[in-house]
Amino acid sequence: MSVQFIENKNLFILSCAKLSCAFYVDANKRLVHLHFGGKVLGEEGLLPQEIRKGHSSFSPWADGEKPEDSADALPLEFSGFNTGDFRINSATVLTENGSAATDALYVSHHIYKGKKRLAGLPSAFAGDHDSVETLEITMRDTACELEFILSYSVFEECNTIVRSVKAVNNTALPLVIRRLMSAQLDLPHTGFDFVQLSGSWSRERHPERTPLHSGIQSIRSVRGASGHQNSPAIALAAHDATEYSGDVYGAVLAYSGNFLIEAECEQYGTARLCAGINPENFSWMLAPGESFETPEVYLTYSGEGLGGMSRNLHDFMRSHLIRDGWADRKRPLLVNSWEAAYFDFDSAKLLGIAESAAKLGIEMLVLDDGWFGARNDDTTSLGDWFVNTDKIGDLGELVKKINALGVKFGLWFEPEMISEKSKLYQEHPEWVLHEPGRRRSIGRQQMLLDMSRPDVVQYLFETISNILHSANIEYVKWDMNRNLTEVYSDMLPPERQGEVAHRFMLGVYRLHEMLLKEFPGLLIEGCSGGGGRFDAGMLGYVPQIWCSDDTDAMERILIQLGTSYFYPVSTIGAHVSVCPNHITGRSTPFATRGNIALSGTFGYELDLTKLTEEDQALVRKQVADYHRYHHIIARGDLYRLSDSFKVNPFDAWMYVSKDRKEALVTAVCRFCQPNSGVRFVRPRGLDPETVYEVDGMQVSGATLMSIGIQVKLEPGDGASRIYYLKAL
Ligand code: DGJ
Repeated sequence: MSVQFIENKNLFILSCAKLSCAFYVDANKRLVHLHFGGKVLGEEGLLPQEIRKGHSSFSPWADGEKPEDSADALPLEFSGFNTGDFRINSATVLTENGSAATDALYVSHHIYKGKKRLAGLPSAFAGDHDSVETLEITMRDTACELEFILSYSVFEECNTIVRSVKAVNNTALPLVIRRLMSAQLDLPHTGFDFVQLSGSWSRERHPERTPLHSGIQSIRSVRGASGHQNSPAIALAAHDATEYSGDVYGAVLAYSGNFLIEAECEQYGTARLCAGINPENFSWMLAPGESFETPEVYLTYSGEGLGGMSRNLHDFMRSHLIRDGWADRKRPLLVNSWEAAYFDFDSAKLLGIAESAAKLGIEMLVLDDGWFGARNDDTTSLGDWFVNTDKIGDLGELVKKINALGVKFGLWFEPEMISEKSKLYQEHPEWVLHEPGRRRSIGRQQMLLDMSRPDVVQYLFETISNILHSANIEYVKWDMNRNLTEVYSDMLPPERQGEVAHRFMLGVYRLHEMLLKEFPGLLIEGCSGGGGRFDAGMLGYVPQIWCSDDTDAMERILIQLGTSYFYPVSTIGAHVSVCPNHITGRSTPFATRGNIALSGTFGYELDLTKLTEEDQALVRKQVADYHRYHHIIARGDLYRLSDSFKVNPFDAWMYVSKDRKEALVTAVCRFCQPNSGVRFVRPRGLDPETVYEVDGMQVSGATLMSIGIQVKLEPGDGASRIYYLKAL
């Protein structure tokens, strides 16, 4: 039983294999947090022997309660606003009289097997045979019939608890939600480092680690997308936690729009974490009888350091977030036309690439930007999802010819966008996201469609569906190359404009739902100028996301390892591209480009018709490696073996199959240093008792993990090796 309610103590205990969470309903009906972290056994020792005392009159208490009951001084599962808890809070809701005071107390709870999906939002699921249990706690405001339903779904094997909140307006008047966070977590001390993934376009998700300090530390987005700058996921790692040991708490928000994750160190020496939709410029009008659901947050804990946290989250997302079994399925090994041809292609060129692909064992050609409208550069045609027949002739015929070569076909779209130079803009200028009377911001020569409008979503569904029905298209790359500005919708009244950014996201999610319903086997790759929308929200619809426009293998080490802190390697879009690299100008050995792209979905992003004989031989080897090692990389346990928080001369990481019978170690010398000694890489996660064959030797797991594998590399920047370990 993963959810327990101990009635005589009003105590809830949520249990995973290595994680426990506990809270209770106190005499005043507050939901008081007791523990989130390492496993506890039994209920003894959980309830506090003494309620915190000795705080000052500056921590107020409710009339009729005692000073020590102050909401400002208690660890709480849910906090309101303007009623005595001055810390960052869960909910602020405005009533008709203009009051923003919000204060909710426990009313009832309900425990059930399984987990409900959220309506219109990405959400985790429990399989038929999973031991998932859900606890729903109903809280009610102390002044009106506004209810909050706190949901906790316990995924025992993955050490993950899924949290979300639903607000229900049972009053007779409309209410306005100003802030409704998906989860609040109070931790008993402040001795943590805040671990985040930050960067920019082409330099996404570099890990950063900084100690918590007094006040608030946060990451957020107001871009209408999660953004390249910060991924909506953080870890709180005890100061002494490493990759392999120590207390680490992970929080991943399943949302792709404006988000906020913040941690506050407060006056009584505790830390509070809140995660959810960014309240900045957000409001949501709730009519009587209506409800509003927040996105989900995936909370995990590991006593085995940052690596343990990542493995929990990888297991959880692969089994309970990524839909239609895609996490387990091999993705078609593809070549993408973007860096091969950009806008400059015709059907002959595409067929040439497809012929080379067929000869080399590459299974799919993805036709990127430039196939529609009159698009020969980035100034035109977004929104006109009609084939440019002058350029590629009849799409159905082209795809038939490509399929006849034994190669599948995929196609690029950028659904949320519109070019000023487009038929769509001539017909529907009002569909553009814009502020009346204010000049528009342009990004990459394009504007955004108002995805909060059902007619826009319907138009996109119909036009994209027509294309997908017209040919055997088995894969879609869904791009998004700018962020939201002038967020305002003609369709909504002034008092609802604070809803537009969230409604935009709901429109994007809805379009995904509609397309996946119409084309159930379709594989969609997410993308936003590389990894500008790489988040667990998108992973609820797409099993893989193009990780970065930076395809330089050396740069990809940090980007991909950074991404792996919260997201499974099987979701990371990674391709071999041509050198000198188009963005950095750097050249890296072809073999190393392959070894690094293997730690992702794997594919090519270059003109296959121009490869030398030598590189063709390397492609054949890489294709074989992909098939041979895919199951270990995609389903195994990841161990980062070098310090992924900085650029190292030498990096290593590895995967171990779940049965610990196989492993794959990758070692890369980013820049060669003379006299740098003999290098050993010490694998992790092996079975100490098992003898493994590696590099022609037979060595026990214990010896390998104690002494390591001696890494022999040719001199030169970017030299690399992969080592396959097989249990004898
Ligand atoms: C940005 C993507 O990240 C690229 O891979 C490519 O699809 C271009 N957009 C096309 O415009």
